[in-house]
Amino acid sequence: MTDPKIIVALDFPSLTQAQALARRLDPQLCRLKIGKELFTASGPASVEAIQAEGFDVFLDLKFHDIPNTVASAVRAATRLGVWMLNVHALGGRAMLSAAAEAAEQAQRRPRLIAVTVLTSMGAGELAEVGIEGSPEAAVMRLAGLAQSCGLDGVVCSAREAKGLREKLGGAFCLVTPGIRPAEADAGDQVRTMTPAQAMANGASYLVVGRPVTQAADPLEALRAIHRQIIQS
Ligand code: C5P
Repeated sequence: MTDPKIIVALDFPSLTQAQALARRLDPQLCRLKIGKELFTASGPASVEAIQAEGFDVFLDLKFHDIPNTVASAVRAATRLGVWMLNVHALGGRAMLSAAAEAAEQAQRRPRLIAVTVLTSMGAGELAEVGIEGSPEAAVMRLAGLAQSCGLDGVVCSAREAKGLREKLGGAFCLVTPGIRPAEADAGDQVRTMTPAQAMANGASYLVVGRPVTQAADPLEALRAIHRQIIQS
């Protein structure tokens, strides 16, 4: 079975648009990510419809609640048969452990990963919510916590991937957004990396949105990124 390294973000307001894009892509080359916008608009039907197109789904809902509620949400997601899902590491040890246990019990065990620090937050904003020290230190600490609770990996920037890979070992899953092919427009992402650089830094999977979804030929854009990965 192939293990595509590219996860295309289906950041669309409707299932019709998401499905239209999915039909132009190839499940041999990518997985698809359903986030809060599409899920809030179209619900579990969006997961089922995308799976019916032959794609593995990463359900990016970043659960963050009391342990019992998060465990129930993880169980509901696993019943949908998602390939990957995520929670916030800031939910703490009990919440992370409950999520990991719920994932473990699933018939088809999904990869369970944690969000550490939102990349939109700098040191100033972190201090304001009581997290002192550098964002990098918080990322390391929270990734270590997630691993010790039995999670499979974290979402992180490709820049953080190198240090995390060294500290947390080869089996830990590092999912990196902010990817831009060498020739692409960065859009609103500030610190981007190319697919080859991200893989060299130890990324396991690359999340790519607009470079594929807004391309005139999405399949060709996807193929170009795939080529950059296999050549690296
Ligand atoms: O279009 P673009 O490639 O920037 O999309 C990146 C995707 O990754 C979006 O779905 C965005 O929400 C997500 N993401 C991100 N940065 C993070 C975490 C997730 O860009 N730190």
